[in-house]
Amino acid sequence: MSADTQKKAAAEFALKMVVNGATVGLGTGSTANYFIEAAAAKAKRDKLDTKFVPTSQATYALAQKLGMNLVTIEDAPFIDATVDGCDEFDGSFRLIKGGGGALHREKIVGSSSKFMITICDASKKVETLGAFPLPIEVSKFGVNATAWKIERALVHLGYKDAKMSIRVTKQGMPFITESGNPIIDIRLGKITNAEQLDGILNNTPGVIETGLFIGICGVVIMGTDKGVVELTRA
Ligand code: 5RP
Repeated sequence: MSADTQKKAAAEFALKMVVNGATVGLGTGSTANYFIEAAAAKAKRDKLDTKFVPTSQATYALAQKLGMNLVTIEDAPFIDATVDGCDEFDGSFRLIKGGGGALHREKIVGSSSKFMITICDASKKVETLGAFPLPIEVSKFGVNATAWKIERALVHLGYKDAKMSIRVTKQGMPFITESGNPIIDIRLGKITNAEQLDGILNNTPGVIETGLFIGICGVVIMGTDKGVVELTRA
């Protein structure tokens, strides 16, 4: 079964969160897009009064095109469930997100939700986080100074072979998030101390958001070759 088929199956499984009267956060990325399409169809077919909170302009545009009832997080700060993709997850429901650059808004929306549900294909499950480069959203002002501070912190934490790069677009231009900030991607290989790393990064002046989602996701719905698996944090 292809990764896309697994993503779609996971997205459809998560449709149980789309119920009358609920407020549902919509993630960003290819897996989230499958959920948005299925959720729009369900809300329309069952004439549901469900409100949806988008996490990016791309998600907003797709959901609006599909006629979904959209509200902002300002209008709906208490969200029932957010359904979003991930770049990696481990056995402790810790995630790396931000491959698509929407980490800041995804974290605000996900952490404002009673349930944050990650939908993904089987390739996203890892023993140890870190093969996927960890995105760090930073202030444009002083970006090189912040990069230097991060590099020093990584050495201090024992990541001597870490490689850092400021993200660029396919056209080679600096990638800027919807909040107006650059992203530094850090290749760590294996993240052996995710909580400590996240704490230190969050305390580094210039860091706006890390792509580590710790203690936020409670449910993972993963498509596999053998069907959909639902994992719930204890
Ligand atoms: C965007 C994200 C995405 O959820 C993540 O990159 C997964 O994307 P996809 O569903 O396309 O594999 O964090 O910032």
